[in-house]
Amino acid sequence: MRSTFVFALAFASSVVAQINVPGAVPINKLEPLQHRLAYAGTTGMTVSWNTYEKIDEPTVYYGTDSWDLSGYATGESVTFQTSLTWSNHVKITGLQPNTQYFYVVSNTNCYNCSELAAYTFTTAREIGDFTPYTAAVVVDLGVMGPDGLSTTSVGAMDEVNTTIHSLARYIDGYDFVWHPGDIAYADYWLKEQVQKYLKPVPVEEGYKVYNRLLNKYYDQMQPVTATRPYMVGPGNHEANCNNGGTTDKEKNITYTVELCMEGQTNFTAYRTHFRMPSAESGGVDNFWYSWDHGMVHYVQIDTETDLGHGYIGPSEPGGTGKEDSGPFGRLNEQTDWLEKDLASVDRTKTPWVIVAAHRPYYAAQQGSNICTSCRDVFEPILLKHNVDLVLFGHIHFYERNAPIANGVADPNELDNPSAPWYILNGLGGHYDGIDTYDEPLPDYVRYVQDTDYGWSKLTFHNCTHLTHEFIVSGNGTVLDSATLYKNHTCDMSSSNGSSSNNPAPITIENGSGSLRASSALLAIIVAIVVMLAM
Ligand SMILES: *[C@@H]1O[C@H](CO)[C@@H](O)[C@H](O)[C@H]1NC(C)=O
Ligand SMILES: *[C@@H]1O[C@H](CO)[C@@H](O)[C@H](O)[C@H]1NC(C)=O
Ligand SMILES: *[C@@H]1O[C@H](CO)[C@@H](O)[C@H](O)[C@H]1NC(C)=O
Ligand SMILES: *[C@@H]1O[C@H](CO)[C@@H](O)[C@H](O)[C@H]1NC(C)=O
Ligand SMILES: *[C@@H]1O[C@H](CO)[C@@H](O)[C@H](O)[C@H]1NC(C)=O
Ligand SMILES: *[C@@H]1O[C@H](CO)[C@@H](O)[C@H](O)[C@H]1NC(C)=O
Ligand SMILES: *[C@@H]1O[C@H](CO)[C@@H](O)[C@H](O)[C@H]1NC(C)=O
Ligand SMILES: *[C@@H]1O[C@H](CO)[C@@H](O)[C@H](O)[C@H]1NC(C)=O
Ligand SMILES: *[C@@H]1O[C@H](CO)[C@@H](O)[C@H](O)[C@H]1NC(C)=O
Ligand SMILES: [Fe+2]
Repeated sequence: MRSTFVFALAFASSVVAQINVPGAVPINKLEPLQHRLAYAGTTGMTVSWNTYEKIDEPTVYYGTDSWDLSGYATGESVTFQTSLTWSNHVKITGLQPNTQYFYVVSNTNCYNCSELAAYTFTTAREIGDFTPYTAAVVVDLGVMGPDGLSTTSVGAMDEVNTTIHSLARYIDGYDFVWHPGDIAYADYWLKEQVQKYLKPVPVEEGYKVYNRLLNKYYDQMQPVTATRPYMVGPGNHEANCNNGGTTDKEKNITYTVELCMEGQTNFTAYRTHFRMPSAESGGVDNFWYSWDHGMVHYVQIDTETDLGHGYIGPSEPGGTGKEDSGPFGRLNEQTDWLEKDLASVDRTKTPWVIVAAHRPYYAAQQGSNICTSCRDVFEPILLKHNVDLVLFGHIHFYERNAPIANGVADPNELDNPSAPWYILNGLGGHYDGIDTYDEPLPDYVRYVQDTDYGWSKLTFHNCTHLTHEFIVSGNGTVLDSATLYKNHTCDMSSSNGSSSNNPAPITIENGSGSLRASSALLAIIVAIVVMLAM
């Protein structure tokens, strides 16, 4: 098997993408779909993909040369009741940091088999490497097209750039994508039927629609996730099959979580589909965990369950969200972990500490979208450990705040504040459209807009400067940009500075050199096809 891949790649002459209409069931049930990556330490990478049949021994073949994928690693093929697919997860370890690898997964096929598409990934930079880089952040991003963000919200899908198109178009501008919650919005399948966006099916067949929406979203994201780590966090829409409940006024029925079939509750699809580096960071599942990349320590926290300190999360049984999910840790396990995780960061090596939480506790809105218990539980810890930036979503507008401590803007603003900076960007693309902010605005708001979908770019320049930009999905414009200065003290002795540790680009004759650019090329090809198919 291994030698077959080496042989086939030796004859590779150009890249041919495996094209599958998003959401469609392929003829070959083992066809690898929905390729996605997740950092697993600086010397590891988890490669995942889905198939419509179980694979006996999911395998990833990899190497630093496209013609020699002689490395291989195996993993697991997992599913859940009422799923239409299997998730295959393979963790590769023992890699070099900050190094590009080529990979293919089990049963990677190719038309006429004289050409084979190898994807690439690049491992994270070591702690203490101060080379500047950029990360993409998107929250509240759902399936695009007639099954999701509808034509009433953004116009026909072939006439606009969605956030997925924008992420694919600008893929060479960032190292990875962070998506802290509300992924796909498949749990809106019933509401979409009630609102007559989707053709009605009997509720007992709803799981098929739910799964089709999930698969369609993951397929649509493949041009991004096949070559960029896709780090995810839990949102309320990952909790169950029905967003906590749906009312059909015409039929006078209120559907609750009770209508969800086995396997459709308790974050099951989300837990099955992703493998975040909680083992590497002492966290729990895909709920709370952390990772490092160069000069930054990233922390994903969970606002849905396990808040601790006497509070249940809004998505827990008895919680305000009626999602009936969790808990996943022991009492106070998340906050105990968070304290320990933040305390263990060597700020001279990873001066930047960035936390993402799905639900906001600072936002220009009143009501149940504000997680006041999250503030009670998390804010003191984030303040104590001098977290630099906190990212929120959940509410579908964009709001850049000042650094804030206990509700009060830091008088230093972005010039060496002592409080964490807060940014909310819930404009990835929610099928119901955009929310409006409430006035008067809280004192700490510095910029707010509720008209354009978009995503965030975080650029870490060096030990002291970090820039956040809001990118308009529709046209790529930077709508808002702000730079934070912090007087961090850094130990740059082990850093290779701006001279990257990446191997020098190799030029391969006879066409296979184009594989070097495969990630970008593949992304563009697939993005175009996805765009046409949506
Ligand atoms: C397969 O590839 C060979 C060599 O490139 C070509 O001659 C042949 O026509 C191809 N077959 C099909 C069915 O496309
Ligand atoms: C710096 O580069 C050297 C040689 O390429 C490498 O061994 C080392 O791990 C790099 N250090 C960092 C922090 O990237
Ligand atoms: C709707 O159903 C409830 C009971 O489920 C009933 O009490 C109520 O009268 C109904 N309303 C209408 C308008 O039919
Ligand atoms: C959800 O799953 C966790 C972990 O398996 C379990 O401890 C918890 O009881 C489950 N919650 C519900 C509501 O089923
Ligand atoms: C850095 O800034 C903080 C907060 O303003 C201040 O307390 C600290 O003394 C400063 N440290 C240095 C080395 O300037
Ligand atoms: C850090 O980056 C900022 C923004 O690019 C730049 O203005 C500043 O001079 C840099 N600081 C150092 C020490 O290089
Ligand atoms: C899509 O965005 C690109 C730049 O990102 C822009 O050039 C193009 O005109 C946009 N297309 C549409 C249909 O708006
Ligand atoms: C891009 O879109 C934004 C938001 O709609 C708009 O303000 C800006 O003028 C547009 N830029 C270009 C170059 O069209
Ligand atoms: C490229 O292919 C040609 C024809 O097959 C061969 O003569 C040449 O040696 C190859 N070049 C390299 C660098 O492999
Ligand atoms: Fe949400």
